[in-house]
Amino acid sequence: MDVAAIVVAAGEGERYGSRKQFCDLAGRSVASRSVDVARAVAEFVVIVVPPDATSESHGADAVVAGGPSRAASVRAGLAAIAGTARVVVVHDAARPLASPALFHAVVRALDDTSLAGAVPGLAIADTVKRVNSPDDPIVVETLDRTTLVAVQTPQAFVADTLRRAHDEKREATDDASLVEAIGGKVAIVPGEPGNRKLTTRDDLESMLAVLEAR
Ligand code: CTP
Ligand code: MG
Repeated sequence: MDVAAIVVAAGEGERYGSRKQFCDLAGRSVASRSVDVARAVAEFVVIVVPPDATSESHGADAVVAGGPSRAASVRAGLAAIAGTARVVVVHDAARPLASPALFHAVVRALDDTSLAGAVPGLAIADTVKRVNSPDDPIVVETLDRTTLVAVQTPQAFVADTLRRAHDEKREATDDASLVEAIGGKVAIVPGEPGNRKLTTRDDLESMLAVLEAR
């Protein structure tokens, strides 16, 4: 097998107020849309769901129970992927609007064999400042926006490297950070403004608008 995909859908959606990944978006569930688009590149798709929700596959080839953190859920997905997969693509179920072309772009970037990973990124429009802490929001510095990108999923990795990156069971909000931490080179490919992550209820409307514009 060349490419396998993990769709992580085991979160509780605290900011949203429910398990947003199973909500309806214009007639189909958010999770099933994400599984479907992962098929653009993956011969095998595993969906990682909350432990009490493993009875539904959402169209995936395998269903496994997730863990208490996103990273733990990715590890659960990795355990269900055959050792023969060369590339593993990790995708947030909560980003159902990523295009098939974006999946192809991150996988194709790995044709450069010096890379361990490829992830979508967008330039940042706002000026970004670092503060002491959320409780003490005094500005420490203003960052150089031209060298910053906001990253998305799908994120593609050389399978062996992703497994090694997860071996240490560290936590991170994306997989690329774990690959970077073991010295893997990760490239940015152009992200998609429409590839929003469903985070709060307010996101639903803008996502419907993106769908309608297609
Ligand atoms: N996720 C997961 N396992 C977890 C936590 C998150 O599989 N333990 C998944 C979510 O289902 C989502 C993706 O990781 O598809 C990105 O996480 P996020 O948007 O933060 O979703 P939630 O953790 O569910 O939301 P919140 O942080 O508001 O609770
Ligand atoms: Mg979360």
